[in-house]
Amino acid sequence: MSNNDRPNGGSLIYRQSVWTRTCHWIWAACLFFLALSGLQIFNAYPQLDIGIESGFEYKNSILEIGARQVGGEVRGITRVFDIEFDTTGVLGFSNGKIQAIPAALTIPCSQSLATGRAVHFFFAWLLVITIAVWFIASFVNGHLRQLVPSRSDLHMIGPEIASHAQLRFHHRRHYGALQKLTYGGVMFFLIPLMIMTGLSMSPSFNAFAPWMLDMFGGRQTARTLHFLVMLSLLGFFFIHVVMVLASGPLNGLRSMVTGWYRIDPEEHRPGSPPDSRKET
Ligand code: HEM
Repeated sequence: MSNNDRPNGGSLIYRQSVWTRTCHWIWAACLFFLALSGLQIFNAYPQLDIGIESGFEYKNSILEIGARQVGGEVRGITRVFDIEFDTTGVLGFSNGKIQAIPAALTIPCSQSLATGRAVHFFFAWLLVITIAVWFIASFVNGHLRQLVPSRSDLHMIGPEIASHAQLRFHHRRHYGALQKLTYGGVMFFLIPLMIMTGLSMSPSFNAFAPWMLDMFGGRQTARTLHFLVMLSLLGFFFIHVVMVLASGPLNGLRSMVTGWYRIDPEEHRPGSPPDSRKET
């Protein structure tokens, strides 16, 4: 157990509602299946374009993953804008197979666009429902407000970055400035953008709301943005898990499983019993 797991013997408070906890683990599972089934779908057309059109005759791709014969052997090649990288063994050609993303990182592992799409759409709708439930519950129980940084939070960003860099973490009743900014960024910006760019690629949704595809500048741009949001969420995921591990994994995970969180002793305000919050 790390020191951060028992912040100097502070009190236990009820910090995460059952709605936050349940939605959190469902969307974490959804994003796992969405990422890997999305990479299966990406493998069917392993390049990212800008605009409305796609195909050989257009020069509008910003990323392309493929394979090519070089000096009698197959090499995996990844092109980003006009710069090419030899990515043999990782992207383009790995384990003796020409495949943009290696089989170990796709669902299913074998090449099957149809199964990939079925898995992707199932978890996409489950994510939409989960996020809608989280928004409604968080609006009703006031949790939504706790994710919006206040003016004083914004002044704390510098000191918080400094204390995070020294692996010193505060265990407060409410999220700190960096947590509000990152969690708020994920819930108010990245996930809605992912859902909107995803919907924009659906022909039936285009018939219902054609303005959304226009807003993103065409199907190929929407697909590219969808991919970039996935990469941003992946970046968030790694930093998030490292922060949970560094700030006291048992305390953090307990709060996300049972709701109960141990705060620093100086956080306990006189007159407010630490465990008085009712489950909402
Ligand atoms: C892609 C997957 C994930 C996403 C998008 C995500 C996102 C989030 C968000 C937005 C919150 C704040 C929720 C709220 O207050 O309503 C949160 C909290 C939390 N998450 Fe995740 N999460 C993911 C995966 C994980 C995993 C795998 C773990 C386990 C290591 C984890 C552990 C936690 C904990 C302990 C908290 C509470 C943190 C705190 O008190 O600061 N999350 N997560």
